[in-house]
Amino acid sequence: MSAGLVIAVDGPAASGKGTIAAGLGAHYRLPVLDTGLLYRAVGVLMRRLDEDLDDAGLAGAAAARLTADQLRDPALRTRAAGELASRVAVHAKVRGALLDFQHAFAGQASGAVLDGRDIGTVIVPDAAAKLYVTATPEVRAKRRWTQLIAQGEAVTYDDVLADIRTRDARDGGRDTAPMRPADDAVLLDTTEMTIEQAADAARRIVEAARARWITTS
Ligand code: CDP
Repeated sequence: MSAGLVIAVDGPAASGKGTIAAGLGAHYRLPVLDTGLLYRAVGVLMRRLDEDLDDAGLAGAAAARLTADQLRDPALRTRAAGELASRVAVHAKVRGALLDFQHAFAGQASGAVLDGRDIGTVIVPDAAAKLYVTATPEVRAKRRWTQLIAQGEAVTYDDVLADIRTRDARDGGRDTAPMRPADDAVLLDTTEMTIEQAADAARRIVEAARARWITTS
């Protein structure tokens, strides 16, 4: 799909995949797409128009209307937007409407890093490097809670843990592109790691994959 190095970083909510993807992008000088923002934007757009998030047709139409500049909206980073995203992400029409945008990003001549839930399984199955980043729900909830508090949100750790469990169940249980590691993804459990350690480990995994990719391409 692309002549450049494509890195797929998947994993559940608050596993550290966004930070890892950004670090890999900086290290290899590759553009980075946080694909969660696409789903967040669809959810936020629908909520603003007071549309029914469970209506697959309306959700698909909202996804088809999405433009790149809408991804910069700070409202996409909130706890509420994460919940809206996981609700619209169950619709095949939404996932289909967002395919072209993700393929175009992954197909850039420079190569690219994409983070999400289905990058290594659906969006770029031939990515040169695939990581699946995990951590226990409790550790992920602690990280996300700290992040939300820093953003000024009034939320308890228990609420965030409940959100994470709901999202894991919804993302893993949906019929279309259920969250799971690609067969050839390398699992990176960051439970016991600092973010620096996780970023180092991710770089080592990508270096090994990149060496294989260079010799075969
Ligand atoms: O940062 P966090 O992992 O909490 O959320 P995110 O990556 O922004 O994703 C928000 C929601 O969008 C997820 O819970 C998924 O339901 C959905 N999503 C998806 O289905 N596929 C992707 N490639 C990215 C996100």
